[in-house]
Amino acid sequence: MIKNFTFESPTKIIFGKGSISALKREIPLEKRVMLLYGCSSLKTNGIYDKIIEALSNRSELFEFSGISSNPEYDYLLHCVELVKKNKVDYLLAAGGGSVIDATKFIALASLFDGDPWKIVESFGSCCKEALPLATVVTLPASGSEVNRDAVISRRSKKAKLPFGNRAVYPQFSILDPELTFTLPKEQTANGILDTFVHVLEQYLTISVNAKLQDGFAEKILCTLISDGLIAIKDPKNYEARSNLMLSSTMAMNGFLRAGVSMDWAIHMISHEITSLFDIPHSRALAILIEPYLIFCKEMKHQKLLQYSKNVWNIYNENEAESVELVIKKTIEFFQDLGFKTKLSDYQIKEKEVKMIVKQLISHKMIKLGENRNITPQVVEKMLLNCY
Ligand code: NZQ
Ligand code: ZN
Repeated sequence: MIKNFTFESPTKIIFGKGSISALKREIPLEKRVMLLYGCSSLKTNGIYDKIIEALSNRSELFEFSGISSNPEYDYLLHCVELVKKNKVDYLLAAGGGSVIDATKFIALASLFDGDPWKIVESFGSCCKEALPLATVVTLPASGSEVNRDAVISRRSKKAKLPFGNRAVYPQFSILDPELTFTLPKEQTANGILDTFVHVLEQYLTISVNAKLQDGFAEKILCTLISDGLIAIKDPKNYEARSNLMLSSTMAMNGFLRAGVSMDWAIHMISHEITSLFDIPHSRALAILIEPYLIFCKEMKHQKLLQYSKNVWNIYNENEAESVELVIKKTIEFFQDLGFKTKLSDYQIKEKEVKMIVKQLISHKMIKLGENRNITPQVVEKMLLNCY
């Protein structure tokens, strides 16, 4: 049965065409605002100008740009200095998960007196407060626009680690599907796969008859399958972009996980692959899915049957066959999105697998999965068996 839970989703979602104009009214006029964004896309696709226009009623606006994918700790410290020097007291992130996660880190670090790396090492627990932040989403994927979590990299320590804190829930997030029209096919696909795996991490676990959470999860998966391929073919399809954007956000707003067991092993292992071999987040997820589902098929048997029936319309007397088939269908869907799905596609062999295992141990990722039984030794066996 469903476990007791507290569900909170304090972020205001402002959805729709032209919703950027809400920036004028949503950020209190007396705030000293800093706009944070990535490398080039915001300016090339015209979103920067729209944001500047919406904030034109402010006497001062600070900026920090150049936030790369897998946001780098050392680079973000420069922003913390700028925030303190200019007494910035409101952060506006415009971008995808990397910019939003970076902004969450900066929001905490700007008010933290200790060593900022402690924020990440303590998984966010050492902080009590953060600067207020809001987001303009340009790449639907991470769901960071609506949750209290973030992932920061520190290349000098070969680390890419998650942290969370209630203080970094965005005050509001602007979800305008038109801002995603310029996404290259590969980034659209990344967002679809990342969201798909976010749902599986919260849904393909232990069956507790959570009809609403399961139904919501299955509907998001069906939407990603139907509208994902539409958006890839027709990038300016407003309806498909709307459904994908809402899928990414609602997959991570906390309801899917309410009262059920969560997995997250694939994500934790993927972080090590990204930090060791510089393989982007979703591409790392794509090569882990097959070995992981095959390894866990007994443990996840009930939910795999439910997933195969309710999402892929596969069900026959032979349950084992249905499970095999649904894993195959899932991998084929990822391949249709343009993903490579084998470790060997990235030359990850025995030596590299041992490096991944060593990193998991050093990052205390030693009891993963909904049953806490995915140990580094299990990961090694699972990855070595699969190519
Ligand atoms: O840097 P620019 O030039 O802006 O280009 C970006 C970036 O290179 C580009 N882009 C973004 N919006 C665009 C666009 N290009 C054209 N048009 C647009 N509208 O896309 C590239 C990738 O952006 P990034 O933010 O890195 O991608 P994503 O949104 O997938 O975020 C990935 C990060 O999210 C973290 C991952 O670990 C990774 O660091 N995650 C955060 C989570 C969370 N906070 O809950 C959970 C997730 O599982 C994930 O781990
Ligand atoms: Zn993810």
